[in-house]
Parts: sequence; structure tokens; C-alpha cells
Amino acid sequence: MAKGGRKTIRIGLLGCGNVGAALSSLLTDPVGQATLIERAGVSVELVAIGVNDLTKRRSDQSWFPSHLLTKDLVGIVAREDVDVIVELLGGIEPAGSLITAALESGKAVVSANKALLAERGVTLERLAESKAVDLAYEAAVAGAIPIIRTLRESLAGEEIYRVMGIVNGTTNFILSKMTAEGLAYDDAIEQAQRLGYAEHDPSADVEGYDAAAKAAILAGLAFDATIGLEQVHCEGITKLRSIDLAYASKMGYSVKLLAIAERRGDGASVRVHPAMLPLSHPLASVDEAMNAVFVEGAASGPIMLYGQGAGGMATASAVLGDLIDVARNQVAGTFRAPPRRHASLAAISMTDLVSEFYLSLDVADEPGVLAKVADVFGSHGVSIRSMEQSGLGDEARLVFLTHAALERDVAATMEALNGLREVDAIGGVIRVVGDEQGDR
Ligand code: HSE
Repeated sequence: MAKGGRKTIRIGLLGCGNVGAALSSLLTDPVGQATLIERAGVSVELVAIGVNDLTKRRSDQSWFPSHLLTKDLVGIVAREDVDVIVELLGGIEPAGSLITAALESGKAVVSANKALLAERGVTLERLAESKAVDLAYEAAVAGAIPIIRTLRESLAGEEIYRVMGIVNGTTNFILSKMTAEGLAYDDAIEQAQRLGYAEHDPSADVEGYDAAAKAAILAGLAFDATIGLEQVHCEGITKLRSIDLAYASKMGYSVKLLAIAERRGDGASVRVHPAMLPLSHPLASVDEAMNAVFVEGAASGPIMLYGQGAGGMATASAVLGDLIDVARNQVAGTFRAPPRRHASLAAISMTDLVSEFYLSLDVADEPGVLAKVADVFGSHGVSIRSMEQSGLGDEARLVFLTHAALERDVAATMEALNGLREVDAIGGVIRVVGDEQGDR
């Protein structure tokens, strides 16, 4: 399709929420168009936008292409004059079937769908490869941060032993408010909802599912392996109390919801859970709704990427980068082969992991309690690094930091502590993550 002697790549967009509307504006704004043509060396033309509701207002921009809206998503995928499908629907279906149909008909696909890619990414990659077309998904993890390209290309030769990310802005915002303002969890979530950071039903974010999908995608790329969602251990932030976050701050730590992918020999541990990070760790100062990913490689050493993990324009920026890549490849008649995913890594069980732990116990304030509690730690092989008592009488609380201990020993310690008459409640249990490293 020549336009003034230049190739034009025609795009069909599926989904027009915040990101889709921002992308549509970027693609049709005359200044943006000129920049695109200069940078990509090709013209990119948005030819259709598939939505479920034609009456919904999508954008205030005067150049928003409302005339391209249609409810016929299957029809967009089937159009012979569409070269690239951009999928911004989210969810498994119908996104999965539409992407499959697009790839099967030889169209390149750009997607921001972390849930689908975590579940079916490898199958879709193989299909794309068999059809010699691109499947690009930079926007699926951490919005504007170019972590997918970094892992796939810049660090392709690197032996990565650990990736740790703050990849969910909603939970990072909530934890920042609980820490900085001492807000209770419920108040922090209400503030996040008021400001538009948290959904009306925030469970995908606060239960850690959103971060788990991103962890699976990052782990697969970092270790050149196939990492299924079922391999990701997932704990959210719903049990955290601001009092424990305050103790953590006092002790020199920041509490974050981390997505962690760690390689040890022939195994990998991929997990999402709250963690205490020393304040000196680069991730500890990533606050509010910002995201960051910290990668540790044998030759590269540590690398950190920081930026906006959500938001229409920020995420559209990542989609646009992918589109330019795909457009350049189409002009050159090529595509980027997907990762080989040659490594076969067994899932390391959580019970076999070793970390330091923070534990806070509500206890009876009477003689001999500390000795009994300490005895439970000792008899399960968990060594105490430090202990502090705060409060008196009914308000008494013991706060412990342990030395590195096996998860299963800490779990047994907690079970035994729960059975002690002197322990009213186990208040907080948080893993401490710091400078320890995986297999190198
Ligand atoms: N809900 C996510 C977040 C953004 O809060 O970071 C989309 O993955």
C-alpha cells in the first residue's frame, strides 16, 4: 500500500478504554503522525477500533477518530487490508480467540494483555513464529517501563539469576499511604479508589493476581523458560497492618508487594508476596503508584528500570514502541523470532525457601512469656536476630526479626506459637528480602 511512495501499515485496534483511547489519539494526532513517519520510516494508519459499546465517550481530543468505532471485532480481525492487530481488551476471552485468528491469518499482533500472555503466551508465540509474524507485548508488564525489550534483547546473553519488581501501582500506592500517613488498609484502599488508582473491585490488585501474571511473564523471559501461572506462589497485601509497616520503618525497612523470580540451579522460585526491603535497596524508595523492576545478572550486575506502570498515555507509549518495531519489521519483510525458552526449570517449593522474617505477636504481659516464646523459636531451629517489646498490659506486643530460616520451620514455629496460651494473636509475618542472591 503505497502512500507517496511510502509503505503504510494498517492497524486494527481491539478495545478502547484508557489505553486504547490514548493510543488512538497518538496515532491520529497530526504531530504524532509526522513523528511516527520520521522515526519508523513508514506510515501507520489506524483503520478500525473495535468496542462493545458504541455510545460510550472515548476521548475529549478533537482528532479522536470516532468514525472508526465498530462493534464488529471479528470483522476487524478478518479484514484483508489490516496488517497489525492491537489487542487492548484484557481478559482471556474473546481476546485469546481474536489474537489466535489474527495470527493464523498472518497478521502481526501487539497486546497489553498480561493475563492472556501469562496463560497462553508460549502457545501464541509458537503460532506467531509458525506464521512468521510478530507478537509483541511490551505494555503487558509495568506500563511504560521497557522491561520486556530489555530482557528479550539487551539482556539476551545475560545469565539472570533474579528479577524483583514492584509491578502493581495500586498496591504500591496503598502501601505508601499506610507507611507515610499511618492509614489503615481500608482507608488507604478507599483513597486509592477515590483517586482512580484502585478498581471498584480491587481484588486482582490487592490479592496479588495482577502481579502474579506479570511475574510469570518476566520469569519466562529472564530464564528463557516456560513458566506457568500455576507455578507462581501468590500472596496479596490484604493482611498487612499499618502498625507492622510502622515497625518496619523504625527498623530501617520498607514494605513492598514484590514479584520475585529467582533461579537456583535447575529450579526457579516465582512468587508474589509482601516483603520488607532494607531502606538502602533501590526498590525501597519506589513510592506512590510508581513501578520499578530490579534485575540481577551474573555479568551485568544490578540494573533497575523505574517508571509509570499504568495510565492511558504511559501504557500507550509502550504499545506505540511495539507498533513501530512491528511496522519496521513488516517493511523489511521480517519478524522477531520469539524466545527459545530452552530451559526446563522445576518449581522450587515455598517451604524450601530461606529468608529472614519479621514477626509480631500480641502477648500477655507477664513473667516468663518471652522465655516461652523464645523456646518455641529455638526448638524449631529458628534463630532470633533481634526482639523488641512495645506496649504494656493488654497492649503488649513482641516484635522479632529472625536470622535466615527455612519457610517450613517458620510455619511450624507460627503454628506452635498459635497454640501458646500466652500468645493472643500473631499480628504480622513478613519476609525480609535484601542482598541475598540466587544461584550464580
Ligand atoms: N492495575 C495495575 C496496577 C495496572 O495497579 O498497576 C495494570 O496492570
